[in-house]
Amino acid sequence: MHGNVRISGAKNSALPIIAASLVSTKKVILENIPDLVDVRTMIELVEYIGSEVEFSHNTLKMHTPKIKNFDAPYDIVRKMRASYYVLGALMARSNQAKVSLPGGCAIGPRPIDLHIKGMKALGVDINVSEGFINAKAKKLIGHDVNLQGPKGTSVGATINVMIAATGAKGDTVISSAACEPEVVDVADFLNVSGCHVSGQGTHTIVIKGSGSAKDVEYAVIPDRIEAGTFAVAAVLTGGSINITGCCPEHLASVLDKLEESGGRVTRKKNSMFVNGHGRKQAINVYVAPFPGFPTDMQAQFMALLATVPGTSTIKETIFENRFMQAVELMRMGADITIEGDTAVINGVRQLSSAYLMASDLRASASLVLAGLAAKGETIVRRIYHLDRGYEKFEEKLRSLGARIERQSE
Ligand code: EPZ
Repeated sequence: MHGNVRISGAKNSALPIIAASLVSTKKVILENIPDLVDVRTMIELVEYIGSEVEFSHNTLKMHTPKIKNFDAPYDIVRKMRASYYVLGALMARSNQAKVSLPGGCAIGPRPIDLHIKGMKALGVDINVSEGFINAKAKKLIGHDVNLQGPKGTSVGATINVMIAATGAKGDTVISSAACEPEVVDVADFLNVSGCHVSGQGTHTIVIKGSGSAKDVEYAVIPDRIEAGTFAVAAVLTGGSINITGCCPEHLASVLDKLEESGGRVTRKKNSMFVNGHGRKQAINVYVAPFPGFPTDMQAQFMALLATVPGTSTIKETIFENRFMQAVELMRMGADITIEGDTAVINGVRQLSSAYLMASDLRASASLVLAGLAAKGETIVRRIYHLDRGYEKFEEKLRSLGARIERQSE
């Protein structure tokens, strides 16, 4: 694959920022919003809650003069876990919320105990019954809370509690906060819209409650996982791609591992040139919260390492069940053994085409990449998973020389 590709806005920033926009009674204009199925689902949810929304050409205009509904219905939440971000927003805006409990998903049980712990710390009377999170408070009160979880920090809990705390009286100090670039992006958005958040990007975030809302215009950061996916595609196919509109700094751990495996990366402020002409070598990948290696990139690396000579390993420390792409890659002739939370990958010369089934968003991206490098024509089913997180994926791949097309079932 050769050529230029422009990266879209970050899904995992856009979703919480759209939800956080419910807090303000003022007009909100969001730029660089990717046109994804999940974004459309979040728009459906905030409109149900009471927002007037216009969305076109990656610009979203939103205004919520009045909250009409204080709940997030099961039929919307079951489609997208990130719906739980309206819990923090409704508590900050109206001190009450009823949110359908997001179940587990393909990659793990994904409990929300830290979200509930954080809300309780702010004085919220919160319980879970009949599949709903029921939350109310006379007034949110700022308080210290430690959000350390069994797998380390939590992106979702940090963001949800941070949003809620903007509506509290007094200061909130979140310790063991997640440091992901998306957490920083939400905090920066809250500050532009009149709140007082500091420490974002570190493990201690301070929110001075009750900022004064103001009209806001904000552009979300580029999607580092989409950028990482195209960087892997360049090395996997032995090509060279200039990836623009991205922030290499946000995926330093990914690019370091790509270089260790034989890729060559030229990093600039908002772009990077990746070529895969170099000799490949086996590596060990250890997944960890930011600035560690992101769990959302391990599936794509498994597809890459399946044809890298030698024995590589990937240790997945965040989600319990995120190696589902392995069995599909084995159908293509990959030599992979799963030992608990570690995948052992013995590189083969080339994968061969096969009929494949996608199981989740990042697994589906890894199967498409593997298909691009395999001998013969590969068919990947259940690609609705892809549309949740990649904007115009096959168009972008085709513009880089990939022979790929979408067919209806
Ligand atoms: C976000 O999920 C992302 N989703 C995920 O990306 C990403 O994989 C994950 O962060 C980790 O980086 C969105 O931003 C919408 P967590 P989130 O809370 O917030 C446990 C993708 O492919 N935990 O950081 O749900 C949890 O089970 C998606 O775009 C608790 O135990 O992740 C997990 O093991 C997939 N209790 C770990 O912490 C809690 O209350 C990290 O989860 C919350 C989390």
